[in-house]
Amino acid sequence: MSNVNTSDQWFASWFDTPYYHILYRDRDYTEAGQFMQRLTQRLKLSKDAHIMDLACGRGRHSMYLNKLGYRVTGVDLSDSSIAFAKAELRKTTSTPSINEENTELNPIDASRIEFHVHNMTVPYDQTFDAVFNLFTSFGYFDDAADNLKTIEAIKSNLKPGGYAVIDFMNAHYVVENLVKENSKTEEGITFHNSRRFENGFIYKDIKFTDNDHDYHFTERVSALTLEDFQSYFAAAGVELIDVYGNYQLEDYNQETSDRLIMIFRN
Ligand SMILES: C[S@@+](CC[C@H](N)C(=O)[O-])C[C@H]1O[C@@H](n2cnc3c(N)ncnc32)[C@H](O)[C@@H]1O
Repeated sequence: MSNVNTSDQWFASWFDTPYYHILYRDRDYTEAGQFMQRLTQRLKLSKDAHIMDLACGRGRHSMYLNKLGYRVTGVDLSDSSIAFAKAELRKTTSTPSINEENTELNPIDASRIEFHVHNMTVPYDQTFDAVFNLFTSFGYFDDAADNLKTIEAIKSNLKPGGYAVIDFMNAHYVVENLVKENSKTEEGITFHNSRRFENGFIYKDIKFTDNDHDYHFTERVSALTLEDFQSYFAAAGVELIDVYGNYQLEDYNQETSDRLIMIFRN
């Protein structure tokens, strides 16, 4: 596939629809916030650090990082998600909020957060103290060469000594524990999901009807293993320094971990 023209790819259409956000609306914001706190503490990022949230979606991690005091740039391929994130920013009040660990978060500092449409296979025109790629925002491409291009782009977006984090699924665990079918109703729409593992990819077919219109989307993510990532890191010339298996940052175990969270540096 081309680096630039992603418009005919499944991820360019599905993530840009409101339905993606409806299906996943119960995602755990508390867990995401705690993960950001642990990660920034683990990386010992100073409060003047500038973090890139690569494939930020509607910016939930970006907003939290900003409230923790960091300067953040969130980028995503989806125009509508970036438009949503910008609109949220304009709506945000200056009331301080309290997180689960009862630490006071800062109000959003709009002068230290921005959102842009950007394709992650291409280097961004700025460098950062840290680049975060979160919540399985990797492995979508037809051509495996684009995975390496993305790691190389991340490397070029890091300041010397900067850290990058890829928060991917533990594909081994997901394949072993594949829920073949389930249904879920959100906002009056019943989503019928079926999953399969085929030719190294995990597929999720999502079918539903809304306003008398039938929809069918397919998510497809490459079942990349730690060894696959290690070969990309070696080819890109970055150093893998830590691997965690969940959002509590406990050790990775191929059989039991649900996540594969890798920290590497320039
Ligand atoms: C599973 S969502 C996660 C979004 C966000 N990180 C979160 O946790 O809410 C994956 C995101 O990757 C984005 N994406 C897919 N391909 C991309 C690309 N080539 N460049 C930038 N973003 C991309 C999608 O638009 C989508 O927002």
